[in-house]
Amino acid sequence: MSISVAIMAAGLGTRMKSTIPKVLHTISGFEMLYHIIKEAKCVSDDVHVIIYHQAELIKEKMSDYFNDIHFVIQDHQNFPGTGGAIMGVNPKYDQLLVLNGDMPLLQASDMQNFTHFNAEVVMSAFTCQEPFGYGRVIMDHNNNVQKIVEEKDATELEKEVKTVNAGVYLFQTSFLKAHLSKLTNQNIQNEYYITDLISLANDVKAILVDEHTFMGVNSKYHLSIAETLMQERIKRAFMEQGVVMRLPQTIYVEADVAIEGECVLENGVSLLKGTKLVNAHIKTNSVIEKSTIINSSIGPMARIRPDSVIENSHIGNFVEIKKSTLKGVKAGHLSYLGDSEIDEGTNIGCGTITCNYDGKTKYKTIIGKNVFVGSDTQLVAPVCISDDVIIASGTTVTKDIPKGSLAINRAPLKIVENFFYKFFGSQK
Ligand code: UD1
Ligand code: MG
Repeated sequence: MSISVAIMAAGLGTRMKSTIPKVLHTISGFEMLYHIIKEAKCVSDDVHVIIYHQAELIKEKMSDYFNDIHFVIQDHQNFPGTGGAIMGVNPKYDQLLVLNGDMPLLQASDMQNFTHFNAEVVMSAFTCQEPFGYGRVIMDHNNNVQKIVEEKDATELEKEVKTVNAGVYLFQTSFLKAHLSKLTNQNIQNEYYITDLISLANDVKAILVDEHTFMGVNSKYHLSIAETLMQERIKRAFMEQGVVMRLPQTIYVEADVAIEGECVLENGVSLLKGTKLVNAHIKTNSVIEKSTIINSSIGPMARIRPDSVIENSHIGNFVEIKKSTLKGVKAGHLSYLGDSEIDEGTNIGCGTITCNYDGKTKYKTIIGKNVFVGSDTQLVAPVCISDDVIIASGTTVTKDIPKGSLAINRAPLKIVENFFYKFFGSQK
């Protein structure tokens, strides 16, 4: 069955106490609104996103991901509130699924569930111990929904109700057309509430949904709870596919990360957006950002920054790598390798630094096969080291080195005997 979807994202989000619009706050690396649009697109080819506050910013961010959604600007001045939000939506299909933009955990299958019922309005509710902030679902003696009362408008008695409105509704488009204009702003917030449509309907079906999946994020505290739940979901899926995670509650994996083959993630690992692992062992407290790691071990305490490709390599502790391609390389300790290409059989000694930046421009370091880079070497880019080269410990490399050579630039070591006693005196 074809349905249209409207996602409400025009609210101020005052309770977030931020200059960033609420729906642009991120969960597992992506904006809350991104998560919900992505899922909505799985159930509909007619997705409307309602915006008003910082509309241009929201539009710009979402246009990076999606090119076939309709943005609708709410007439917020005249019709503030969630009821006002859907007034400007013109759905293509006979049914309109309305979602709050602050529900990042909702999935396509949850949305699909609403279509299994036939009513003027299918609404959703859950029962929770801490209903504060949610609209309360008021039922009659036969358990039929009468109305939804918002927290701020509720009487003390109504506040006791623990069955709350989850904030997702499936409307018959014809019902909306007939009743939207009947909404008023006669309430404490002087807003037009979508929830008032419930008491205008004769035929309401209420479905019970999961409190966690349908949670609305209204504050930074809620954001942290949603993050924990999303992480649990992401990591569980990987573990079920065979990924080993040591102390998974300490591991952070963003939403688009790909993991294949036999992988081990030790405690404290962070895998950020755009990362792909294939047969990789990532050791304690390493961070990998937008990089591809294949048949390699990384860390502990290594930092792999964006656009790196590391294959058949071993990267040890306190090594930072940025925008570099390493194939068959060992860099065991304490190095910075930036804007570099390093080939098979090469060993990068402890304390090696690519000096890739002269204050204005970034330059490349290219290192060939079987190169032995001694400890504490500085490679001043742009520079090219050919195959089969030895660079002596402590060398500053400022020019290209031809195949098969030794590079060494050391001041001779001078030894002044008994200098210690002359300087400090003989008692010392
Ligand atoms: C809303 C419901 C409440 C429900 C809860 C579930 C109303 C009046 N109340 O309350 O019954 O229990 O969700 O999470 O609907 N928005 C607009 N335009 C506006 C105002 C809001 O598009 O003028 C958008 C917001 O950006 C947000 C969504 O609508 O994404 C919900 O708004 P929010 O202020 O979070 O409503 P709640 O108080 O959570
Ligand atoms: Mg909300």
